[in-house]
Amino acid sequence: MTAATTAVEAVPDRPIGIFDSGFGGLTVVRSMIDLMPDESLVYFGDTGRYPYGPRPAEEVRGFALEIGEFLSREFACKLIVVACNTAASVALEELRALLGVPVVGVIEPGMRAALKTTESGRVGVIGTVGTIGSGAYQELAQRVAPTEEIFCAACPGFVEFVERGETASEQVHVLAERLLAPLKRAGVDTLLLGCTHYPFLARTIGDVMGREVVLVSSADETAFDVKALIEREGIARLAGGPPSHRWLSSGDVDWFVEMGRRLLGPELESAEKVELGS
Ligand code: DGL
Repeated sequence: MTAATTAVEAVPDRPIGIFDSGFGGLTVVRSMIDLMPDESLVYFGDTGRYPYGPRPAEEVRGFALEIGEFLSREFACKLIVVACNTAASVALEELRALLGVPVVGVIEPGMRAALKTTESGRVGVIGTVGTIGSGAYQELAQRVAPTEEIFCAACPGFVEFVERGETASEQVHVLAERLLAPLKRAGVDTLLLGCTHYPFLARTIGDVMGREVVLVSSADETAFDVKALIEREGIARLAGGPPSHRWLSSGDVDWFVEMGRRLLGPELESAEKVELGS
């Protein structure tokens, strides 16, 4: 796998590739379709290997490089969106070096959205064990907002609830009460959902945090970044004929369609099974 074999020429008609460990990246896709309805998309949900959060960084990095290379090779994607904080926190720079097309992550856009929102300067960030453990948010905050107070908390288990389609059960509420307690005590006024699965738990998380805390996701801000980038690079697709949307899953494809459609909307009509390496 070398840059030479994976680099593709970026042209307007080619699709944008997006990936996540499972359904989470669909939150970003929703914003992208709404903002850029003419763009063709290929989405890869690694549902056969989720969750990424508890896995060692090295393993997640390997998955991310494998998927990025696959999307570039098979679909000649003109741009890749790493719609997974856990993968972005360990592999974004390597993907940029490897793929030869623009690669957009979710961490910087998410942090920017949170910083725009906070009034008190006390911001909570929640994510997987991998993301929070990587220090990616802490380092970014130190660099771009050294005077704000950032409180980070890992939320193991949240992703699994979403993947099972359990977004508002009593059990996930009990777990949220326990995991979010330190952030409530910290008195944050803004909570950044630093995992793309978490917007699907927004009702539960909002109930627990209380109405005075604003929940922020990276989805819209990431979509804005993608739009600005393709316009700047002159690679936005010109309208003319409907765009193509393809949905790929490494796990149970029937479940991917059933649950994915419920979470994303009618654009997700059918999915294809893809099995990667390991
Ligand atoms: N959506 C992924 C993220 O943003 C979840 C990772 C996981 O599978 O644990 O981090």
